[in-house]
Amino acid sequence: MKALVFHGPGSKAWEEVPDATVQEPTDVVVRVDTTTICGTDLHILHGDVAAVTDGRILGHEAVGTITEVGDAVGGFSVGDRVLVPAITKCGRCEYCQRGMPSHCQTVGGIGWIFGHLIDGTQAELVRVPYADTSLYAVPEGVADEQAIFLADSLPTGYEVGVLAGRVRPGNTVAVVGAGAVGLGAILTTGLWGASRVIAVDTNKFRLTKALEFGATDAVEAGPGTATDVLGLTDGLGVDVSIEAVGFPETLLTAASLVRPGGTIANIGVHGIPVELPMQNMWIQNVTLTMGLVDTVSIPTLMKMVAGGRIPAEKMGTHSFTFDQMDQAYDVFKNAAANEALKVVITPA
Ligand SMILES: NC(=O)c1ccc[n+]([C@@H]2O[C@H](COP(=O)([O-])OP(=O)(O)OC[C@H]3O[C@@H](n4cnc5c(N)ncnc54)[C@H](O)[C@@H]3O)[C@@H](O)[C@H]2O)c1
Ligand SMILES: [Zn+2]
Ligand SMILES: [Zn+2]
Repeated sequence: MKALVFHGPGSKAWEEVPDATVQEPTDVVVRVDTTTICGTDLHILHGDVAAVTDGRILGHEAVGTITEVGDAVGGFSVGDRVLVPAITKCGRCEYCQRGMPSHCQTVGGIGWIFGHLIDGTQAELVRVPYADTSLYAVPEGVADEQAIFLADSLPTGYEVGVLAGRVRPGNTVAVVGAGAVGLGAILTTGLWGASRVIAVDTNKFRLTKALEFGATDAVEAGPGTATDVLGLTDGLGVDVSIEAVGFPETLLTAASLVRPGGTIANIGVHGIPVELPMQNMWIQNVTLTMGLVDTVSIPTLMKMVAGGRIPAEKMGTHSFTFDQMDQAYDVFKNAAANEALKVVITPA
């Protein structure tokens, strides 16, 4: 089979490798029909994720068809169309049982293993461990180019942004960063009845997209951001301020937009320490949440996509075939210049 193999920082190749096979009775093999690239893959190529070593197949998102099942797999059969999510779960460890498979103890102490601790989904075939508890059947009415965004960005925006931020009917919400994840939060915050959803980004194209995805207001990030957002929220700030970028300054922006009693929901992956103005924040009765996505909202989101309530397909702006993997990465890496959100990559 062919796969996108990591060869150390800055180096990757779409090359011939041995076929993925069933290794444990709880495994299945999935033929990848659609995959995509995540910002985390760019971090890996940058050399930021030390656990990813030379020879690892990249990618942690796929929709595909099962080609082989292990003896212990009961819930899936050859030919089934499935979503391979970013998080793998054993279903039995303490964290899985408390609904937090992001920290599944069985699969490696962390639920994100594809393209990280084991070979990933940017390949013709992928081995999926703990298939019964990790895979999701894709219903007939849901297209591959919709389901693929349920593997990571949509559940991340929803779980780590909207749910962790406890958006409630009538709430005002700010989303700092309108990339795929921030847009995932914007697409799903309306499900909880937010009255106002304010997108904040430096990029005009992303702000246009945010309005298309359900934001009520778009604010260009800059020195006037807090004043602009306060002006849209009776001078008080928002009930829920979601951070979806991952820089100290954007978390500070998110923190500056929240009203007393509100919640700051951090989604961004941070690489360096952030100094928060606790001398101002302690008296505001605010909550700060953060975390790795569990992807446990996938069944809910799948139903919303199937019912036409979440237009997930809007996330895909560019399409490529497997042999154009390099072009797909180039476009995604320069997403702003290319007016790209997520790329859809298929065999042919
Ligand atoms: N917590 C989790 O489980 C989890 C899962 C997946 C991704 N993430 C993280 O979520 C974050 C967003 O991911 P993404 O794929 O949407 O990234 P992205 O790069 O596509 O989007 C980031 C957006 O932030 C905007 N931005 C940059 N600087 C800004 C500034 N100063 N002010 C306002 N906006 C600014 C960019 O224009 C872009 O639209 C990343 O940090 C990613 O690593 C977290
Ligand atoms: Zn990802
Ligand atoms: Zn587990």
